[in-house]
Amino acid sequence: MNETLPRELSSAKFGFRYGPAALVTGASSGIGHAFATELAGRGLDLLLVARRADRLRALAAELEQAHDVAVQVCVADLAAPDAVDQIIAAAAGLDIGLLVSNAGFGLKGAHQDNDPARMAAMLQVNCAAPLQLTHRLLPGLLRRGRGGVIITSSVEGLLGVPYSAAYAASKAFTNSLGESLWGEVSPLGVDVLALCPGSTDTEAHALQGIDSATLEGVMSPRAVVLEALANLGNGPVHVAGAQNRAMFTALTGMPRREALLQMAANIRAALLPSGTGS
Ligand SMILES: NC(=O)c1ccc[n+]([C@@H]2O[C@H](COP(=O)([O-])OP(=O)(O)OC[C@H]3O[C@@H](n4cnc5c(N)ncnc54)[C@H](OP(=O)(O)O)[C@@H]3O)[C@@H](O)[C@H]2O)c1
Repeated sequence: MNETLPRELSSAKFGFRYGPAALVTGASSGIGHAFATELAGRGLDLLLVARRADRLRALAAELEQAHDVAVQVCVADLAAPDAVDQIIAAAAGLDIGLLVSNAGFGLKGAHQDNDPARMAAMLQVNCAAPLQLTHRLLPGLLRRGRGGVIITSSVEGLLGVPYSAAYAASKAFTNSLGESLWGEVSPLGVDVLALCPGSTDTEAHALQGIDSATLEGVMSPRAVVLEALANLGNGPVHVAGAQNRAMFTALTGMPRREALLQMAANIRAALLPSGTGS
């Protein structure tokens, strides 16, 4: 993992390469909200996707006013089988140069205790949605011969994570998807980045029953997004944060059994007594 971070493109070059419009899923909070804000600041028009309409509409109004960009919203539940069709229909009038497939959620706790319906929904949102969105949007990007795809994955996709088995497996899927697509389309001018945040200060921790006070090196969503945008041409995978890069380089270099037992202890310590997934 390279510690020399590239300098970001100027707004004009960024807009030419990845504009005029970006599609951001999971824009109603956390990392997706920060992506939307930073991309609007670089002059891109946006299509924002999530379930919470009120939040999307408020963000759209705020960004339109602050940055003189056009922002549309698509209220969709990515766990629903027709969600991607709905999003593609909403994107029909837009020239999408950048896909940020970011929506996702996690479930923590003993695997056998997790609700099977929630696990199935998680696979739909975390895995099937980026799979289908890239499938539908790559042809347009390839025709233009420029553009980008960011898939928000996780450091949990870099190795197995006890007490987060299904989520870690879903993020191993997105890391593999990002790496494979990078190998296919980056030689044709389309950048692909599987973004691996570590602990990031969003609503996700509370939703997963994690005690934020036990976490070290927590990053802000904006810091994660700035690294992602600076490294968009530096794929296929980027781990956000020097501390996370050092930690996961060490963990993935350790004997696997040792690393997994250490991860198990870390996650057990972070779970609140009620310890349930969202
Ligand atoms: N926070 C971390 O420590 C961390 C670490 C590594 C990776 N990540 C990844 O970062 C991404 C963003 O998470 P976050 O930390 O920013 O959490 P967050 O604040 O909870 O945001 C999650 C976003 O995903 C959307 N979403 C969830 N389920 C959805 C569904 N069924 N349909 C449509 N949208 C849905 C949410 O919108 P609605 O609820 O409005 O639908 C929200 O906008 C996720 O892929 C997550 O796995 C987070």
